[in-house]
Formats: sequence, structure tokens, C-alpha cells
Amino acid sequence: MDWAVQVKNLVKIYDGKVRALDGIDLNVEAGKAFALLGPNGAGKTTLIRILTTQIKPTSGEAYVFGLNVSREGGKVRRLISYVPQEVSVWTDISGYENLLIYAKIFGVPGSERKKVIDEVLENMGLTPVKDELAGTYSGGMIRRLEIACAMLIKPKIMFLDEPTIGLDPAARKVVWERLSVLKKEYGVTIFFNTHYMDEADLYADDIAIINLGKIVARGTSEELKHSLGGEVISLNLGTTVPKPELREKLLKLGFVKDVFVENSSVNVLVENAEIALPHVMELIKNKGVMVDKVSITKPTLDDVFLKYVGTRLEDKGRISDVAHMRYMIRKG
Ligand SMILES: Nc1ncnc2c1ncn2[C@@H]1O[C@H](COP(=O)(O)OP(=O)(O)OP(=O)(O)O)[C@@H](O)[C@H]1O
Ligand SMILES: [Mg+2]
Repeated sequence: MDWAVQVKNLVKIYDGKVRALDGIDLNVEAGKAFALLGPNGAGKTTLIRILTTQIKPTSGEAYVFGLNVSREGGKVRRLISYVPQEVSVWTDISGYENLLIYAKIFGVPGSERKKVIDEVLENMGLTPVKDELAGTYSGGMIRRLEIACAMLIKPKIMFLDEPTIGLDPAARKVVWERLSVLKKEYGVTIFFNTHYMDEADLYADDIAIINLGKIVARGTSEELKHSLGGEVISLNLGTTVPKPELREKLLKLGFVKDVFVENSSVNVLVENAEIALPHVMELIKNKGVMVDKVSITKPTLDDVFLKYVGTRLEDKGRISDVAHMRYMIRKG
């Protein structure tokens, strides 16, 4: 396996007291999109800062494409690029000028600069607005400009800290469409932090849930959901049914793990709904009860998060994220 990131028993303690990372073990496959999902203060940014060689771990080891981030920082920095949580472009100059400055900082040879800049502008869908002041861009365009800057050096891995924080769903989708192209066409490994459940669900090939400095769950979205065990068959019945009797009968089916009856609706927890459904329907029909509607739901990533972190991630904070984003754009 070609590992983009390998982390072994990584610990980071700030100021001798804040244990931001508490023994992280993590391998991320090259060429994949990987999401580090966790609540505020979980340690996401700390891990990215260590992997991008900005800070050193207290103990443990971390490697990016086999290079030790503490001992071989210079070599690591040649392979990676980083889009921070905060806005990282100048808003009082144009998108093109931003890219020109970054191209110089990154050491892109003068003869190649225009070609490389035009290419990343095109990749991020910013060619039509390249000469406009970045301060007039929307939040989504700013994010794409930052990703364009990060692409100037054709990194093997791109670290993105909360890539779509504060963006509306349409802008988030565009950012991800562009990132997906980078992954597919250039084979760039995408390592991103997020506290948006749906973002991890939709765009990550692989997910780790981090809480209080520890990885508490690991796998693809499907694997994580599956780890909760089971699916729910929800039946809306035409009549109210005697609760204990129906529940008892359903539980006797053996493969039924649990039953929740509420007025005229019945939720049946089973391992495999497709196999269980005909038997459940048969039993209910034999009792002379009409079924109005049936639906099968699977546990969501939200349910997974609830199980491993103990609280649901609420959507609160988005308004303040937007306000913060706008403030940063104005400030430049
Ligand atoms: N420079 C620092 N000095 C002291 N403590 C810090 C520092 N940076 C982070 N911390 C603390 O370490 C813990 C992890 O912080 P971190 O920023 O890595 O979390 P996060 O998951 O990125 O959170 P968020 O979702 O809010 O960005 C928090 O308790 C935070 O207060
Ligand atoms: Mg953070």
C-alpha cells in the first residue's frame, strides 16, 4: 500500500497542560480523499499543523510519503500544500496577482509562471474573474483561489483545514467538484478537516472521527454506518395496533433485533432489511392489519457520530462562521 500519511502514537501537549492529541495512530492511503471529522477543539487543526511541519509533536512520529515530518521538514514541504482554516489571500489585489506572488514564493521559474497560473485558474473556474480584486469575490471563489494557490506547486498531497467553512451549499458543491477533479486528474491526495457530517459523507473515500485528541472511529462512510449494525424498517399502519402483541410476534421472527411501536407506526430494527421485509409484511398481513407506507432507513453518519462522540454535531456556529469569513475577506 502506498501511504500518503502514517502517524504513530502521536501526542501534542500545549503549554505542558492541554493534551490536544492523545496518542493518534492513523494511515491514509495515497490518491484518496480523507476526512478528519470532529467537533470543535477535537485536535483536527493540531494534527494538520504537525503534518504540514508548522509545529512539532510532543512525542510519537508522523510521516508524509515516508518522510519524517520532524526530521525531514524541508523535503516534506516540497511535496505538500496547505489551505488554512483562515483566509490566506490578499483581498486588495486581483486573483491573478495573488497567484503571481505565491508562484514567486514557491519558486516557480519566471518562464513557467504564466502557464502554471493560467492552468490553476482554469482548474478552479476562476479565469473569467482573474483580474478582479479578490475582495470582490464570494466566499466560495476565495476558497477556490486559495486552492489554486495551493496547486501552483503540483503537490502530492493537499491539506485543507475546514475547506468549506461558512460557505452555502451551492458554493460548497462547486469547491468539491473542483477538488474532485484535482484528485482524479492529478492524483492529489486530499486530507481535509471538517465538522460537516455531509461533507465527509459525500466526498471522503475514508473517514476518521476524532474526539478529545483520540481517533474514536475509522472507515469508509458505509463501514462506519454499518458498524452500528442494522437497518430500520418503518411501517405506517392503517390502524392502531395492540402494541405488546405485535411487538412480541415480530421479535419472535428471530432476525428482528428490536421493535418500537408508536400509535400506528412501527419501526423494526433488523440486520438486513431487504431479506427481513417480506417476512415482516407477511406477519402483519396475517394479523389483518393494513400497511399504508413502508420505508427502509439506514443509520446515518450523524448516528455514527452520536455513538462515538456522544453528542450530535449541531448546525450552530454556521452563522458565526459566515460572519467570520466575511470579516476576514474584508480585512484581507
Ligand atoms: N497554540 C495553542 N496553545 C494552547 N492550546 C491550543 C493551541 N492550539 C490549540 N489548542 C487547544 O488544543 C485543543 C485542540 O485544538 P485544535 O485547534 O487542534 O482543534 P480543532 O479540532 O481544530 O477545533 P476547531 O473545530 O474549533 O477548529 C483545543 O483544546 C485548543 O484549545
Ligand atoms: Mg481547527
